[in-house]
Amino acid sequence: MLDSNEKRIERIQKLRKEINRHNELYYLFDTPEITDAEYDRLFDELAALEKQHPELVTPDSPTRRVGAPPLEAFKTVRHSQPMLSLSKATSEAEFLDFHRRVLELSGSSEQALQYSVEPKFDGLAVELVYEKGLLVLGATRGDGTVGEDVSLNLRTIRSIPLRLKGNAVPDRIEVRGEVIMTKEDFDRLNTEREKSGRSAFANPRNAAAGSVRQLDSGITSSRPLSLFAYGIGRIEGMEWTSHWDTLHHLKEFGFKISNHIELCEMTHQVTGYYTKILALRDELPYEIDGIVIKVNDYRLQSRLGEISRSPRWAVAWKFPPRQEQTLIEDIVVGVGRTGALTPVAVLAPVRVGGVEVSRATLHNEDEIRKKDIRIGDTVIIQRAGDVIPEVVQVIVSKRRGIEKAFVMPQRCPVCGSLVERPEGEAVHRCTGLACPAQIKENLAHFASRAAMDIEGLGYKILEQMVDKKIIRNQADLYFLRKEDLMKMDRMGDKLAQNILNAVDRSRKPDLANLIYALGIRNVGIHMAVVLAKRFRSVENLAQQSVEDLTLVHEVGPVVARSIHTFFRNPKNLAVLKKMEEGGVVFPVEGGESTETPLAEKTFVLTGGLDAFSRDEARRIIESLGGRVTTSVSRKTDFVVVGKDPGSKHDEALRLGIKILSEDEFKELLGIR
Ligand code: IVH
Repeated sequence: MLDSNEKRIERIQKLRKEINRHNELYYLFDTPEITDAEYDRLFDELAALEKQHPELVTPDSPTRRVGAPPLEAFKTVRHSQPMLSLSKATSEAEFLDFHRRVLELSGSSEQALQYSVEPKFDGLAVELVYEKGLLVLGATRGDGTVGEDVSLNLRTIRSIPLRLKGNAVPDRIEVRGEVIMTKEDFDRLNTEREKSGRSAFANPRNAAAGSVRQLDSGITSSRPLSLFAYGIGRIEGMEWTSHWDTLHHLKEFGFKISNHIELCEMTHQVTGYYTKILALRDELPYEIDGIVIKVNDYRLQSRLGEISRSPRWAVAWKFPPRQEQTLIEDIVVGVGRTGALTPVAVLAPVRVGGVEVSRATLHNEDEIRKKDIRIGDTVIIQRAGDVIPEVVQVIVSKRRGIEKAFVMPQRCPVCGSLVERPEGEAVHRCTGLACPAQIKENLAHFASRAAMDIEGLGYKILEQMVDKKIIRNQADLYFLRKEDLMKMDRMGDKLAQNILNAVDRSRKPDLANLIYALGIRNVGIHMAVVLAKRFRSVENLAQQSVEDLTLVHEVGPVVARSIHTFFRNPKNLAVLKKMEEGGVVFPVEGGESTETPLAEKTFVLTGGLDAFSRDEARRIIESLGGRVTTSVSRKTDFVVVGKDPGSKHDEALRLGIKILSEDEFKELLGIR
């Protein structure tokens, strides 16, 4: 029989083993076996037992990763062997120079030479000292000779073992590696920081470095960090013969090592590896900035030695950098398809990530204010993957006092219409219906089903019409001639005639469809129905003041202002006039109306509708006095059946409830 203390010790040991195993599965191999909640239960049980019996706590217990009070300052640590830096190559020619020097100085033959190659992680270099397998010290690289004691912080990183795995461990070993933060975790951390009003980190490397150099290890522990081991310093009580061996021993001790390491025997294999990893760069979850090529054999390494703080046996073949410094020469404004005005920095051209960059997006006015970007500033710009280059931060120390703040123009630089910044939005928008920058998008909206419903006029075809200068605005559609259409690619007589017929059919729109078609900001189909019922004609709607518009139930100040602005724009009015000249009939419905045609009617919606979402349909029904319920009963008046309807359709058939197709439903609402 075990006494209760022995049982407790046994349980504690079992828990530690289990927790360490799950830590490994989670942090090293990405293959968790249990849920976070189950993990927490194990952890809490261990923490409770250790609290009751502090004498049973060991320094490698998984509970010892956090919980120390903040430090006043870091102690400094002298590395027993300097942490060297790497000499750099930026081209294949420079790598081959390195290779020639290696051959010369080592006296090795081309055939006997092996390189171990691996990614160059873009994070923070650290050293971890283990004595008899136990983590006793963690330090930053510092200047290579003296670093800072960040032991408490590094202990919080789950991929750093607190005790080396296995029975055969060296008496003492210094393990070196890079602390990194994944791109995804970096983005998430920055979003959180911005939400709570703190400044964002410029890149994952800064985020990792900033997190490790916290005096309060509680903060470090809340940051998603991990470590890739890539080498060792001094080792006692064990001897390894090559870098490749070392990496595999480190892996067995429980460290994460890169899963892209390779052994190369010929220079073209190294070049092939470089090309492969460069292509992989964007897919990797963490940032790398090149590859590191190391002479594999330790005897050869020591024969080569070092020069000016870099080993002669290794080289970093760097990728083209993604961040660069340059000057903002000007800030101009571009107008996007949706009328959004985007400030763009005009840069003194620089090569970034292998491509010459002369412009970077500044997103919007808030972004410029937040980063305090001025014309004449020296900035860090960044190009990641296919992403449009952007300004990461201003180098404030380079200001000369001649920098100029940027102001958003009040008129659209493309068409001269007034610019507005809708409430609650970060973007400024051009209000001009005839703005060429917006016209394609507006045209596609105009021709869509819930608007003028011009069959066959999709975005692509409209885009071509605009590019070929066949039309400039919505009204031009009503002056189209067949010979104009025949100028387009892949246009036949029949298709041209079909388009003309479809345009013709759209000359008699319902009022709500017409209002919706105008593409007034914030006026969706639901709002268009409300406005049509209330104002009875476009002309009447156009004359309303903001105050009058706001009086309408459901029209808030934002919508009211968009409507008002739209009809105060002479360019928009000109397009409307021309539409009328082109034969579009602007419907005028009799008298002002407060009638609610669907009063007391109950609807059930099933299946997908083309012209609007379920929610829009519901709001339209309700604004016309009807009700929407979720299940069909004898009290249901109509069941609206869209695409792929559910069992409600069957139920309606069974109970003999009136079934409406989407078209019939729209007819009932007074839209097409
Ligand atoms: S080996 C003497 N391997 O690069 C060799 N370094 O410029 C020492 N780094 O401070 C380093 N990934 O922060 C090595 N796979 C890798 C690396 C790597 C990133 C960093 C490390 C070091 C710097 C050297």
